[in-house]
Amino acid sequence: MKAIVCKEFGPPEKLVYEDLPLRAPGATEVRIKVQAAGVNFPDVLIIQNKYQFKGTPPFAPGGEVCGTIAEVGAKVTKWKVGDRVAAMTLQGGFAEECIAPAAVCESVPDSMSSSIAAAFHLVYGTVIHALKDRGQLQPGETLLVLGASGGVGMGAIQLGKIMGARVIAAASSPEKLAFCKQLGADEVIDYSKESLKDAVKKLTGGNGADVIFDPVGGQYAQDSFSCINWKGRHLVIGFASGPIPEIALNRLLLKGCASLGVFWGSFIQREPEAQAANVRQLYDWFEQGKLKPLVSREYPLSQGAQALRDMADRKVAGKVVLVV
Ligand SMILES: NC(=O)c1ccc[n+]([C@@H]2O[C@H](COP(=O)([O-])OP(=O)(O)OC[C@H]3O[C@@H](n4cnc5c(N)ncnc54)[C@H](OP(=O)(O)O)[C@@H]3O)[C@@H](O)[C@H]2O)c1
Repeated sequence: MKAIVCKEFGPPEKLVYEDLPLRAPGATEVRIKVQAAGVNFPDVLIIQNKYQFKGTPPFAPGGEVCGTIAEVGAKVTKWKVGDRVAAMTLQGGFAEECIAPAAVCESVPDSMSSSIAAAFHLVYGTVIHALKDRGQLQPGETLLVLGASGGVGMGAIQLGKIMGARVIAAASSPEKLAFCKQLGADEVIDYSKESLKDAVKKLTGGNGADVIFDPVGGQYAQDSFSCINWKGRHLVIGFASGPIPEIALNRLLLKGCASLGVFWGSFIQREPEAQAANVRQLYDWFEQGKLKPLVSREYPLSQGAQALRDMADRKVAGKVVLVV
């Protein structure tokens, strides 16, 4: 089977497109014939051995796929050969076939394309968990989204609007800001050119944002505490800019605010019922036409290394997938 293979840790240029043998599924696993694989920032980190989850070369990256089940393990009862599923695989998804635990597979609405389904669960699952379960976002509140044109940032704009918030999107170029507006952002800030603190204060009458969705970290995380409202909630999603910031606790004290960790991968394992309820909510919004997920670019599987290079270089707006 053809796959994008990480033979040694390093940048995307070290990846090769070649044959990789696939083991048989274990008793509680399934083999999936992949139709599309979502590309996510953790894939960029995993191939460099810089992520909390470690792969062992040679392996294919790719943590999220949609496809049809080709084989089921001896103890799998929920799925049968031919079922169309989306699955969180951690690794192995950038390939013609992959193995996934049966427990991490989700059925996919008939009206959802495979490309969209491969890009859906991680982004919107993370965002609904962040905004609803952790951030307690309320209608009428102001939501500031950092890295707003990226994968999870895009989802935060869309779900923030569905949940009734006023959404301020921050990103680093006019093209990215135009994309955020298209997604429904009420206001936009180019944080590469203007002070995040001053711009947010100006847009909120000096109060600051009630909820800050932060997948970027670094200096922007520091700046967040200068433009967060009284009793605000800063959601720690990730550190796409690299450095993991240290926050002085007096900043939480002064605003009566909270910084809350969001770890969707752990949430789905520890709280499967809450996760299932979130997926039902997301599918309802999708079927009602309220949530319009989009894939901004499709790459053929063979160009998986280029997709990861573009993501690492901040060239990607929205969500991209590999199609098999
Ligand atoms: N906690 C969780 O459960 C969870 C779940 C999913 C993802 N994440 C994390 O969330 C983060 C974003 O993931 P994603 O898939 O949305 O990634 P993405 O599509 O690449 O978006 C990341 C955004 O960060 C901004 N950015 C700022 N500095 C950057 C830099 N030096 N390199 C790359 N991007 C930079 C970019 O926007 P600008 O150019 O506009 O600044 C980019 O659009 C990652 O750290 C990921 O690991 C966490």
